[in-house]
Amino acid sequence: MPHKTDVIVIGAGAAGLMAALTAGYRGRRVTVLDHANKAGKKILMSGGGRCNFTNLNSTPANFLSDNPAFCISALKRYSPWDFLELVERHGVAHEEKAAGQLFCQGSSRDILTMLMTECEWAGAEIRLKVAIDEVQPLNQGFRLKTSEGIYECASVIIASGGLSIPTLGASGFGYNLARQFGLNILPTRPGLVPFTLHPHDKARFETLAGLSCEVQARVAPPGPKTTFTEPMLFTHRGLSGPAMLQVSSYWQPGETVSLNLLPLQSVQEDLYGLRRASPQKTVAQYCADHLPRRFLQSLAVSHDLDRPLQDHTNEDIETVAGTLQQWLIKPAGTEGYRTAEVTLGGVDTTELSSRTMAARSIPGLFFIGEVVDVTGQLGGHNFQWAWASGVAAGQEA
Ligand code: FDA
Repeated sequence: MPHKTDVIVIGAGAAGLMAALTAGYRGRRVTVLDHANKAGKKILMSGGGRCNFTNLNSTPANFLSDNPAFCISALKRYSPWDFLELVERHGVAHEEKAAGQLFCQGSSRDILTMLMTECEWAGAEIRLKVAIDEVQPLNQGFRLKTSEGIYECASVIIASGGLSIPTLGASGFGYNLARQFGLNILPTRPGLVPFTLHPHDKARFETLAGLSCEVQARVAPPGPKTTFTEPMLFTHRGLSGPAMLQVSSYWQPGETVSLNLLPLQSVQEDLYGLRRASPQKTVAQYCADHLPRRFLQSLAVSHDLDRPLQDHTNEDIETVAGTLQQWLIKPAGTEGYRTAEVTLGGVDTTELSSRTMAARSIPGLFFIGEVVDVTGQLGGHNFQWAWASGVAAGQEA
């Protein structure tokens, strides 16, 4: 005999748990199936163990998608303040780190416990270590063949996430299922991921591993203009830190990254002024308060560092300013899905209703969270999309 239920959610991650509790509170019988041995593994890992669970300043401009307008409706109807209300109702201690970014004060586990408690109160059943072999449409509803037998339900919500970090349970399940139902998938690629460097740059910057500095970064023109002023971190493999993770989502293989290493200064004008006022001063002295000397030495300006400014021509100063404020570096690639926080691309939003996340052509089939072609910038936006799209589907399924 098949297990009969109203709604099956595939994936007990952020979006799936939110959809399950929302549908459960509507009186729907909900079963969540996940192949992993634990629910919410990415929630537990997130934010360095403190889960950056939302961003109070989240707007549709913080998301990448082939259709930037798609996320507006869901994000509007379930805002960061709605999630914060839930967090506060459960007494989860939290703090605002960078502008708008809310983190747990204790541990990410507080967010997972809150969601699991809500699922329990809403009567949603969570079944782990279940392999889903097949999802077949019925005249009305769906039949699922699983390692736990056959399930039949009216609605299926796909919340199986993207391809990033396979060791945390990521799989291409959602994309394959969408293809099976004839839905279009936009090409996927890793996002919010560290850059790797070509061997000559790697050798040049290897000794800087661990060093961090505030930069303004973007894909070099004619690439996307979106610019981030955040720290960059040198690693043994290449370039990381928030600025580089952010830019990685906008970068395509072969493109160059442009970095302003002194985003708060106007280097050319400052150096002209300093040459007039203190001709014996050097570029190294000018940069001393802003950039680590070790980094400066590895840049092309290094031969100019300790020469008095009075010996610099205007052209020399222009070159130094250009290197410091438009430093160009061409990454070899990225670290890929192994360390990427998110997957860009996915289920084409033209296939889905922006109000309910339901597939337009397949009644009862929903896609939510990271499997959809909506990807947030760093800073709590990805969880906000998971919550908002989960609520949208949970209100309808
Ligand atoms: P999610 O990946 O959370 O869940 C998918 C679920 O589906 C998993 O439980 C998986 O086991 C299950 N599944 C997959 N394939 C299956 C199959 N074949 N059968 C059954 N089940 C299957 N975002 C943010 O806003 N703030 C932050 O602090 C962070 N930090 C962060 C750190 C790290 C290390 C990573 C990797 C990611 C983040 N993120 C983040 C991103 C965030 O974790 C991500 O956007 C959401 O978890 C996406 O939620 P979903 O529910 O869509 O997928």
